[in-house]
Amino acid sequence: MTALPLIIDCDPGVDDAIALLLALASPEDLNLLGITTVAGNVPLSLTQQNALKICELAGRPELPVFAGCPRPLLRPLLTAEHVHGTTGLEGVTFPNPSRAIQPQHGVAFLIERLTQTQQPITLATLGPLTNIAVALIQEPAIAHQIDRIVVMGGAITQGNVTPAAEFNIYVDPQAAQVVFEAGLDLTLISLDVTHQVLTTPERLDQIRALNTPVSAAAASLLAYYGTADAERYGLPGAPLHDPCVIAYLLAPHLFSGRALRVDIEVNSCLTLGQTLVDRWQSTGQPPNAQVIEQVDADGVYDLLINRLAKL
Ligand code: BDR
Ligand code: CA
Repeated sequence: MTALPLIIDCDPGVDDAIALLLALASPEDLNLLGITTVAGNVPLSLTQQNALKICELAGRPELPVFAGCPRPLLRPLLTAEHVHGTTGLEGVTFPNPSRAIQPQHGVAFLIERLTQTQQPITLATLGPLTNIAVALIQEPAIAHQIDRIVVMGGAITQGNVTPAAEFNIYVDPQAAQVVFEAGLDLTLISLDVTHQVLTTPERLDQIRALNTPVSAAAASLLAYYGTADAERYGLPGAPLHDPCVIAYLLAPHLFSGRALRVDIEVNSCLTLGQTLVDRWQSTGQPPNAQVIEQVDADGVYDLLINRLAKL
């Protein structure tokens, strides 16, 4: 089997960093063509540096990292330092990256790579959808070259920024609307899934027990990250969001869901950024997303620990 051509768009962010490590540890399955970064958990100046740092940690400093959009389409940037720390990678001090960010803009890279490719490319999105929306607006033809897009974002039931909205969608709801209405083969991994995949103390110990520099860094990041979340939601561990996207690409049998209609709320101030999932087909609209509902959390963690051991 040939490795899946993939671009990851992200805003590292601790859970983004773990997702990148999972992808970088899986070169036989994923042909990672590049990483584009966006403003989200922390400003763009930090997300781009953090992506470089994680590539170096994984022993892949040559992997091209591109900086994309520094702010959402219409709204001011909202960040999440309270979850990821002021650097975005709280818990570990990384050396300054030896490689520089690519000179090309992240959106230009997306358009160029998708336009030139012979084989459609999969997109994994782990942050606000600004870069993907701008690329689709600038060059709509790229939609035909996107094999599928797997999005971490949204919520079927309750949000985490407001009762209605999840962070990635709330930060740039207009961008999300563009992406969800682009007719793409879109898979949605929402909070309802990621809240089933918890970083319990036992799982954290398993990562630590790998006893490598990468596992030590991953464990320190995860130990800091989400302690507030675990407390807030009364869960035995922090929800592990973004790695679920990569786990889905590597092991789709661990996930199950349904083709459903998902619309993005962009007008209401109370429910701005809500992903309205039409579970009972009340809109009469055709499905535009494969909405994941269930996940084998032990399977995801086994996969993650297995792959981290390879780095
Ligand atoms: C999402 O928001 C960010 O804080 C995380 O990195 C994840 O992508 C979860 O709501
Ligand atoms: Ca993220």
